[in-house]
Amino acid sequence: MKTPAVPKALKKSYRVAALPGDGVGVEVYAAAKEVLAVIRQQFSVEIHLDEQLIGGAAVDATGDPLPPATIAACRKADAILLGAVGGPKWDSNAAAQRPEKGLLRIRSEFGLFCNLRPVVTHPALHQFSPLKAEKLAGVDLLIVRELTGGIYFGERRRDAESAHDVCSYSRAEIERVTRKACQLALQRDGRITQVDKANVLETSRLWREVVARVVAEEFPAIKLDNMLVDSAAMHLLTRPGDFDVLLTENLFGDILSDEASMLCGSMGLLPSASLRQDHFGLYEPVHGSAPDIAGKGIANPYAMFLSVALMLRYSLSCPEVADALEQSIFHCWENGVLTRDLVKDGCTTAQVTAAVCERLAAAHQHL
Ligand SMILES: NC(=O)c1ccc[n+]([C@@H]2O[C@H](COP(=O)([O-])OP(=O)(O)OC[C@H]3O[C@@H](n4cnc5c(N)ncnc54)[C@H](O)[C@@H]3O)[C@@H](O)[C@H]2O)c1
Repeated sequence: MKTPAVPKALKKSYRVAALPGDGVGVEVYAAAKEVLAVIRQQFSVEIHLDEQLIGGAAVDATGDPLPPATIAACRKADAILLGAVGGPKWDSNAAAQRPEKGLLRIRSEFGLFCNLRPVVTHPALHQFSPLKAEKLAGVDLLIVRELTGGIYFGERRRDAESAHDVCSYSRAEIERVTRKACQLALQRDGRITQVDKANVLETSRLWREVVARVVAEEFPAIKLDNMLVDSAAMHLLTRPGDFDVLLTENLFGDILSDEASMLCGSMGLLPSASLRQDHFGLYEPVHGSAPDIAGKGIANPYAMFLSVALMLRYSLSCPEVADALEQSIFHCWENGVLTRDLVKDGCTTAQVTAAVCERLAAAHQHL
């Protein structure tokens, strides 16, 4: 049988640090591994998975939620693919041994300052959103959140009568995430809405000034506007289709991205990427370890598959394969291949995985 010709650009070899973590993280990672096996076979992209511990599993094995072996493997990799961490078993652990600490440390260890959360509402899934279908038409927005600065990383103190969390941003921190947002916006509609609270906060006024200058001097093709965060929170529910790229600081981005994620109808549908200046990045579903459904084989693996697509696009320079994977996912949605978080008596994780793999294997012939 004649083997289909594979475009030259697709013959590539990459190393991925694979960190399944805990709970459904392990299950959706196992599903992603099957998808990556299809990509390896059908698209001639060699992806070596270096599996390592993180989170509760790492605490149990080594006493450390981010062991040195995991950091070493990530340093050698082109990208990190992570499942999820945490669970009730470790809830009473001391702060340094909380599984989530591994996640916070890996972000700062690798300088992953730019968090991306794409929110795309597919017509086949409109019925699962709390918003009416007419509000969801054409929603395709990208939240770019600054991830390693602001109030979450500022000075913190408490005395008997008061508590303080300091929010500070340097020009350099704002500039680098703005450049990243501009580069991404140029691959889309070229519009950025910068969200802040400039009517009250000094850090927000600095954000406004720096973003405006970077855009004017370095990315004049970008159409920039500003919105106060309270207004943006309303706008996301009333006119979500208006946004293209939404750029904001750490705290506002945390809250707005969770709000926006609900437009899609389930946590199990949302991917994320955390990037730095070069091509290196960490890719993970937005959801946690879902202890309430872990071990039942019913976790929704689509958020993880979409995270793999982001990894193929941003860190592994395989946009054609990312497109093929996304198209396979959309095809499955259109054909009702959905898990139980969306439909009663829905598919198992294994059934969804098999359907996506089958479609993807067929898809490569059209490349
Ligand atoms: N990035 C991460 O690893 C991350 C993120 C959030 C929470 N957590 C941790 O996860 C644990 C559980 O947290 P939580 O319950 O607040 O949030 P969660 O995201 O784990 O679960 C919230 C709800 O969404 C459902 N859900 C989540 N993922 C799903 C999937 N793939 N398919 C179907 N349904 C899914 C769960 O069943 C649950 O009802 C905690 O220990 C928390 O600290 C980790």
